[in-house]
Amino acid sequence: MKLSVPGRTTAAAVVAAVTLLTTGSIAGAAPAPEAAAAAPDLPVANVKAHLTQFQSIATANGGNRAHGRAGFKASLDYVKAKLDAAGFTTTVQQFTSGGLTGYNLIADWPGGDTNQVIMAGSHLDGVTSGPGINDNGSGSAAVLEAALTVARTNYQPTKHLRFAWWGAEERGLVGSNHYVSNLSSANRDRISGYLNFDMIGSPNPGYFVYDDDPTIEKTFKDYFAGIGVATEIETEGDGRSDHAPFKSAGVPVGGLFTGASRTKSAAQAAKWGGTAGQSFDRCYHSSCDTTSNINDTALDRNGDALAYAVWELSS
Ligand code: TRP
Ligand code: ZN
Repeated sequence: MKLSVPGRTTAAAVVAAVTLLTTGSIAGAAPAPEAAAAAPDLPVANVKAHLTQFQSIATANGGNRAHGRAGFKASLDYVKAKLDAAGFTTTVQQFTSGGLTGYNLIADWPGGDTNQVIMAGSHLDGVTSGPGINDNGSGSAAVLEAALTVARTNYQPTKHLRFAWWGAEERGLVGSNHYVSNLSSANRDRISGYLNFDMIGSPNPGYFVYDDDPTIEKTFKDYFAGIGVATEIETEGDGRSDHAPFKSAGVPVGGLFTGASRTKSAAQAAKWGGTAGQSFDRCYHSSCDTTSNINDTALDRNGDALAYAVWELSS
């Protein structure tokens, strides 16, 4: 769903600014606002279509998409094919964990200042016990759709955009650690921000924003304030996802999360709806983490917040 956010340059303001520029400046008038490209709506139907594909991949490959299993590689091939067709420069980075080969997928959008890189990433692997649709098909599908939307709109940001899908997160952030530890210090310093999306469609959702880099945090909070949705700081195990290696390396990080095995309180149910006294995700790390284990409203809002942050931080 497309919702306007206060503080964004509206279409009317852009028209006014362009009119001002083409007709000459008015003496004494305030400078025209900068006409930054407005963040697009991320179509939730497209995000859900990717989730359906991840579910089919799991079903066809022993019920999971875990590190070292066929379902992981098939998931990676699906994401990579979409990105290649859209014009991204993709790189598959290989590593070994537990004697099995793992992969990270990195996709660069050509253009922008490569000394200022904005990254958005998610882990593409799941646990062996289920298809991993909320954890973490949800983040993987939303990051994929954001990348495809960059291509569809031919977004040409000031900064350089890079998207990532990590392997072996469930084995201890192995893929993201591998990526960060293999960056030269110069390339690490070029990353202006890393945004992480791990579990963003929990069935009994909370709206949690990582409390790390203040600019990134504020960007997400501004989006949610604009749609009238309350947020809380993410506290369910700080450092338990792929932003941790970046944070340890000194890269500014942020991200979104809708909750795992913790219980929603009565106060949280009062502001967000859902069921108090029940986990945010009752199917966390289990066989019922299927396409039925997704709250569409949470997936939609978090996808739109992701797009807003990517556009806002890279413009
Ligand atoms: N990363 C964990 C997993 O994949 C889930 C998780 C727990 C999490 N706490 C978090 C994700 C905090 C993001 C933020 O199993
Ligand atoms: Zn998990």
